[in-house]
Amino acid sequence: MAERAVVSVTVNGTPYQRFVEPRLLLSDFLRHDLRLTGTHVGCEHGVCGACTVLVDGEPARSCLMLAIQSDGASVTTVEGLAVNSDELHPVQQAFWDTHALQCGFCTSGMLISAVALLRSQPDPSDAQIRAALSGNLCRCTGYQNIVRAVRLAASRMNGADA
Ligand code: FES
Ligand code: FES
Repeated sequence: MAERAVVSVTVNGTPYQRFVEPRLLLSDFLRHDLRLTGTHVGCEHGVCGACTVLVDGEPARSCLMLAIQSDGASVTTVEGLAVNSDELHPVQQAFWDTHALQCGFCTSGMLISAVALLRSQPDPSDAQIRAALSGNLCRCTGYQNIVRAVRLAASRMNGADA
């Protein structure tokens, strides 16, 4: 058995310290070790975007990172987006309101990518929304309502409603 390495990481505001195999992927660490199964794993090689999380505020594909690479970092998964148990993040609420998901497999990655976009670009054009989500594949929706959702979330977060 491979020698284990310690990883100290803050996930959704909670600090964790675990001994892990050096080859353990961040996606598997989140899902299996921390039981945060909202991060989905589709392709496992960086193509579908389902596994996207924020690492120190930047979107990252957790299937392309080792858990030990997150040592010292702050990670946000979909479980960390909601304001509290009664209030969704505005992007989550907008996905709900515009029916921007069907099977939901891609949704956690879409949400994380959308949140990252709106932090850096609070009032994105449709082209910017599509570009920001171009690494997140959805086999169900045709993307139209996802773009609408991000536009609606931006509008609400800017104090207006669309
Ligand atoms: S599972 Fe990571 S990009 Fe597809
Ligand atoms: S809602 Fe099914 S893959 Fe996007």
